[in-house]
Amino acid sequence: MGDRRESLRGRVAVVTGASSGIGAAVARALADEGVGLALAARRADALREVRDGLGGGPDSIAVPTDVTDREQVEALVARAEAELGPVDVLVNCAGVMYYTLMRNLHEDDWRRTVDVNCTGLLHCLAAVLPGMLERGRGHILTISSDAGRTVFPGLAVYSGTKFFVEAVCRGLRLETAGTGLRVTTVQPGNVATGLAGHSHDEEALAAYGRPSGARVLDPDDVAAAVVYALAQPAHVAVNEVLVEPRDEPA
Ligand SMILES: NC(=O)c1ccc[n+]([C@@H]2O[C@H](COP(=O)([O-])OP(=O)(O)OC[C@H]3O[C@@H](n4cnc5c(N)ncnc54)[C@H](OP(=O)(O)O)[C@@H]3O)[C@@H](O)[C@H]2O)c1
Repeated sequence: MGDRRESLRGRVAVVTGASSGIGAAVARALADEGVGLALAARRADALREVRDGLGGGPDSIAVPTDVTDREQVEALVARAEAELGPVDVLVNCAGVMYYTLMRNLHEDDWRRTVDVNCTGLLHCLAAVLPGMLERGRGHILTISSDAGRTVFPGLAVYSGTKFFVEAVCRGLRLETAGTGLRVTTVQPGNVATGLAGHSHDEEALAAYGRPSGARVLDPDDVAAAVVYALAQPAHVAVNEVLVEPRDEPA
């Protein structure tokens, strides 16, 4: 059959959560494919470091952005369009996850999780959607989670936000069929990043946050799934990708 992948060279992508982990790996993989990138996250220094590490290839810009702030997200997309061109691809990687037990009422963690994972996603969708619909093409890819398919104890609110991600993306996909838009969720299992390191509910961490000992995914494994989904021929939509450690099926 041969490789049916299409070249991504010359496309323009906004990648949120690009300062570390999966987002940084996606940035590197897309830069290698010749994609011009607007990299977004809050930590300006980490973001610049990722951009400076991309080496040659097309122009890329680092735009410090808090996705919970609608105006900052609008400014991010406006800058990407002005400096790189129309945005072909949005990759939503920004996200937070806190292990908490519901009975311990870590309400600030719950609120933060909803703000970043749900409201942040909506801000990003809203900022690119009109342009993509007008141009009749575009790809919105969101790093969801296997927690968007299965609820994990210790991660009830986080799982809820990832179910939200799945529902919104599915609705968007159904409503925009025929417009040229593609909407993908990538659902990783455990990936070796600092994501869980911000949790401070020790009881939840002890009960549910301990490593199983299985070899978990590397951020580059998820980035490879992202490139696979983005590089399909125009009539092909890879709508969901569930990618988990071999020894940790959920
Ligand atoms: N690691 C896993 O096991 C795993 C599994 C399934 C799904 N995921 C998902 O993968 C995504 C990336 O997580 P990761 O594992 O790569 O962890 P990570 O290294 O902690 O990355 C999270 C990214 O989100 C950014 N971010 C957080 N709050 C933000 C905000 N308000 N505005 C803008 N950016 C924000 C962070 O940047 P700043 O701090 O610089 O803002 C960082 O770049 C998340 O959506 C996560 O739910 C991860």
